[in-house]
Amino acid sequence: MSQFLSNCSVDALAAAARSLKEGSLVAFPTETVYGLGADATNAKAVARIYEAKGRPADHPLIVHIADNKFLEQWISDIPEYAIALARKLWPGPMTLILQRSELAKDFITGGQDTVGIRIPDNSIALGLLEAFHRLDGAGIAAPSANRFGQVSPTTANAVQEELGNYLSEADLVLDGGASEVGLESTIIDCTGKQPRILRPGAITIEMIEKVSGFKVSDSAENKSENTKQEEIRVSGSLENHYAPKAKVFLDQQPVRGSGFIAFSSIETPDGVFRLAAPKTIEEFARVIYSALREGDHQNLDSIYIAQPTGDGLAIAIRDRLSRSAKGR
Ligand code: TXA
Ligand code: MG
Repeated sequence: MSQFLSNCSVDALAAAARSLKEGSLVAFPTETVYGLGADATNAKAVARIYEAKGRPADHPLIVHIADNKFLEQWISDIPEYAIALARKLWPGPMTLILQRSELAKDFITGGQDTVGIRIPDNSIALGLLEAFHRLDGAGIAAPSANRFGQVSPTTANAVQEELGNYLSEADLVLDGGASEVGLESTIIDCTGKQPRILRPGAITIEMIEKVSGFKVSDSAENKSENTKQEEIRVSGSLENHYAPKAKVFLDQQPVRGSGFIAFSSIETPDGVFRLAAPKTIEEFARVIYSALREGDHQNLDSIYIAQPTGDGLAIAIRDRLSRSAKGR
């Protein structure tokens, strides 16, 4: 069992950074979802992430850094448009896939010659990263802090529920309250002439087009552009991801005794258990994972969701929900 830290003072974050340096795991909040962190240059520590998650070893990890000045050491090349994205949209819910440097070893990249980098927009995550850089740490590797294939945690309690049994006494879980965005970062492949979205998120197509000056397609919604190889590389794009125990049904009339998630403007049908009634698209994203978890806590067999329509964040929500609905 890991230690649970709800007082994330400067001293506590410095101690957590030291633990990372010593090879322990530290789960920490980000604006998207909670991550399970390890020193991204420590093979043994990173191996423990895979163990704790039950994740196949060829799935690459995102390296988190505190500032653009720590980017250079991880990469060997960066196109102009990616520099613009990094400058304008970091810190934020965006991961850039770039050509790796020698520092990004196979145990981070899954043996590929690219590396995923992100600067999270969360004060505890940034405080931890800054403390880690002060100890000469290069970056913190962190996947979402859930068992492989399951719903990402958006609270420290959900991390504990997912991974408590797989962490050791020296590992830490930092409690920073509920994640503000609630969906994993937008992943953008920046190895080609123009940016390409591998996983949609809160950094939307419109934002990427505006900053990069390129027209971008969402290959996540346009499946035919995705090769089989990419499907494996971006594990978050595997079909049976983000799945609760309950069976998820999309845009269908809920049956009695099931769970129901929809905008607050949609009334709860008789005999159905309302799990969430968000008022805005942002709130929908923020509460969706905790609502799915709540359905499991209530031992519901099925959860019905009226999906949001439209572009922007709705694309990311539908992306995750369509995978949830494929089941485990
Ligand atoms: O919001 C997020 O991105 C969260 C927080 C903790 O930062 N992290 C996260 O990590 O969602 P994870 O490992 O659960 O999902 C990251 C996805 C995986 O599907 C992985 O395959 C993909 O990013 N990925 C990482 N490095 C990659 C690379 N070099 N090329 C292609 N995909 C990569
Ligand atoms: Mg994940």
